[in-house]
Amino acid sequence: MSKLANKNILLCVTGGIAAYKAAELVRLFKTSNAFVKVLMTKGAQEFITPLTMQALSGEKVHTDLLSKEAEAAMGHIELAKWCDVIVIAPCSANSLSKLAEGRGDDLLSAVCLASESELCIAPAMNQAMWKDSRTQKNLKKILRSGAKIIGPASGEQACGDVGEGRMTEPKDILNEIENKFKKGSLSGKKVLITAGPTQEMIDPVRYISNKSSGKMGFSLAEEVKNQGAIVTLISGPVNLNTPDKVERFDVKSAKEMQSKVEELIEDFDLFISAAAVADFKPKKLQENKIKKDSNNKKVKLVLNKNSDILKAISEKKLNLKTVGFAAETENLITNAKRKLSDKNLDLIVANDVSDESIGFDSDENEVTLITKKEKKIIKKTSKKIISKKIVEFIAQKVIND
Ligand code: CTP
Repeated sequence: MSKLANKNILLCVTGGIAAYKAAELVRLFKTSNAFVKVLMTKGAQEFITPLTMQALSGEKVHTDLLSKEAEAAMGHIELAKWCDVIVIAPCSANSLSKLAEGRGDDLLSAVCLASESELCIAPAMNQAMWKDSRTQKNLKKILRSGAKIIGPASGEQACGDVGEGRMTEPKDILNEIENKFKKGSLSGKKVLITAGPTQEMIDPVRYISNKSSGKMGFSLAEEVKNQGAIVTLISGPVNLNTPDKVERFDVKSAKEMQSKVEELIEDFDLFISAAAVADFKPKKLQENKIKKDSNNKKVKLVLNKNSDILKAISEKKLNLKTVGFAAETENLITNAKRKLSDKNLDLIVANDVSDESIGFDSDENEVTLITKKEKKIIKKTSKKIISKKIVEFIAQKVIND
């Protein structure tokens, strides 16, 4: 039986040439035994008629915010309460921006505002509109609110352009919506992850940093997202692509990382601190490049301690779980246990960075997971598999304990 059987799906169609594909989507939802209602914006009705959608769904199509026919004249509230999931396909740049702003001046935006159901959005627009920084900013806002973005796909567009912006094919949208109902182990959880090194400037051209590549943190972000969580990644300078559907902020210094974490943290259920934060920074940032003075055989660099981001967060005693990493070159377990208790963490992931084959820049790792109650070793394997196992452990022993 389809995961969508007996689910209430509100399919919202906005104005764009891909609106004709929404008809196929209604048919696919119906054959999956879902109950489907269709909402169309004014723009959508220019591309496809409500009558077509009515014939396919077997239901009256909803088009007006202020409808005399709706019970108590509040059609948007009735629809918002009825649906298990709202699917907007195609979603135009205009509707995307209204959703990001939290407007409520038409039926679609009012329903989305009033609903607590899952929101799945399949954008479709010209490639330049999709790439535009304002659209991308809107997209980030919407992702942070927990909505799922499906696509867009790439290829030839109705206007003749080629690029990203085509609506994902209806059968692929159907798959994504079905997956939404297969719950991941961290489904709906909000997770903040730090990754990579930090850079502490000495003068305008030199800095202190470390060998962290960010691979472990990025791989964790991918896996946590695959388990249904909404993921935000704060990364130091790395050379890695952002995992799909993960929001990313780039920072350089430990201070910038700390400010970003503190700005965002209130919203999260879990904080994974995988960044190799520099413990020290030069006491004074030199305004100009330090010159190689021939009389000067030595240059003295005075360092100050950076504050401990993870410790500061656990001391806030927010309603969230904390996971730290312990990168050690000796006394792995003893040092890791000390950090677990000093930083008051729910879990510490200990790894031996003295072994180059599982160290900072390698693709493999071997880690020991330590909580206040237990210890588990994950033998040397790819960082991808290590991430899967860490996330499995977090879901079972940290979040759902
Ligand atoms: N950490 C942090 N802020 C710092 C230093 C570390 O948030 N200024 C976090 C790291 O992200 C990691 C954990 O604390 O999750 C432990 O980091 P690690 O470098 O292993 O240990 P330190 O606490 O810095 O102690 P030491 O360098 O003495 O081993």
